[in-house]
Amino acid sequence: MLENDQLEEYLDFLRFGSISTDSEYKDQVETCGAWLVDKLSTLGLDAKLHQTKGCPIVVGSNKHQENRKTVLIYGHYDVQPVDPIDAWDHPPFEPHVDGHMVYARGASDNKGQIFSHILGVQKIIEKNGEVPVNIIFLIEGEEEIGSPNLEPFLEEHKDELACDVILVSDTDMVAPGVPTLAYGLRGVAALEVTLKGPKHDLHSGIYGGGVMNPLTALARLVASLHDEKMKVSVDGFYNDVLDLFPWEKEAWEKLPITDQDWLDHTGVPKLEGERECTTLERLWSRPTVEVNGLWGGYQGEGTKTVIPSEANAKLTFRTVPNQTADQVLDCVEKHLRKHCPESVTIEIERGHSGEGYLCNPQSSYGKAAQKALRKAFNGKDPALVREGGSIPIIAGFQRILGVDTLLLGLALPDCRAHSPNENFDLRNMEYGIHLSGLLLREIANL
Ligand code: BES
Ligand code: MN
Repeated sequence: MLENDQLEEYLDFLRFGSISTDSEYKDQVETCGAWLVDKLSTLGLDAKLHQTKGCPIVVGSNKHQENRKTVLIYGHYDVQPVDPIDAWDHPPFEPHVDGHMVYARGASDNKGQIFSHILGVQKIIEKNGEVPVNIIFLIEGEEEIGSPNLEPFLEEHKDELACDVILVSDTDMVAPGVPTLAYGLRGVAALEVTLKGPKHDLHSGIYGGGVMNPLTALARLVASLHDEKMKVSVDGFYNDVLDLFPWEKEAWEKLPITDQDWLDHTGVPKLEGERECTTLERLWSRPTVEVNGLWGGYQGEGTKTVIPSEANAKLTFRTVPNQTADQVLDCVEKHLRKHCPESVTIEIERGHSGEGYLCNPQSSYGKAAQKALRKAFNGKDPALVREGGSIPIIAGFQRILGVDTLLLGLALPDCRAHSPNENFDLRNMEYGIHLSGLLLREIANL
């Protein structure tokens, strides 16, 4: 059982409105980082808040000894915005406990999951006086905005952050009670499009039929990104996509997850995507085009007969190994410019991006993770999965530090990350604490 003061500390952690994308929350991001430094210090770790151009980075280490493995545990303390606020049953930064469920923004993504490892390490220290490996906690405040300052930080602190393997719990379990090791992630790349028509909003009666409506042009442009079978119809988009390995196809078919589960989690009337792929293939191994926001014109009560002077769209693309964000953005940008009618002008601004990730789950560290997962979850065989979501820095870890990341998801599929009523199951925190200890011991013995 989780101890009372551990729960209280977790709830304190959740009370910080550490929204990285919104500058109004800058103070809370900062104080949340400082709170973590305090927490790590009380474990006897040497912990520090490193300022960056954006949100600070928390680093905490035990005393390192030669001849021991070094394990870096990464997580993030920043969270997504809370809108639509009215859809929450309780205020997002006033955590609500109901039995073993905790509801708050960041409950799963990522505060509950990273806190499980902090408590895991605390438990070993309390029990044995020390951890059997060299530990580095690296907890950043900008994951949800693409980790723009973490890569330069890695380059700068390469020697201090040198390690043998990285542990991350920032993904989902395939199903409740099923230990899950993810060996792949999709990447993400962002783009904003603005179409401009008339130099100011126009009366739609006087001018309608004579000029292009930028919203119509944008709707057509966005629609041109997919064909009628929901395949992306951008030239070159699928060029570098790595085919699934045959073992993956076989293994995924046996996973305890069905289309009905996805229907239940989302509430959609029917699943949709590339016709010739299974749902898991579409979600985990195929790239996509997503419209995250589309706006312009009048949105108030009643009607306003107007041709807006501009229309806007926020698009993101999920990439997969071996695509790169730049290659995908290049071909999408070309498509948008080519299909944009001459009767409007187009402006394209690129946003953040992070590459996808793939590693071998049967490496010695992968096997150690599987062993620890099996022990932590009552002997159950772990599910080996890829994930559709992105953690932008993981590819950077591989490139800059030259090591693999073990993705040990502790969130449940219906945790509502990024959505109203985000939640975390405290029983998974207990699993996480236990798992953390078991895995560090497995790694120490490699
Ligand atoms: N924890 C998620 C990533 C995740 C969730 C991966 C579930 C797999 C399963 C992470 O915090 C996240 O949301 N990442 C963003 C990154 C983006 C904003 C750069 C994402 O995937 O949208
Ligand atoms: Mn997230």
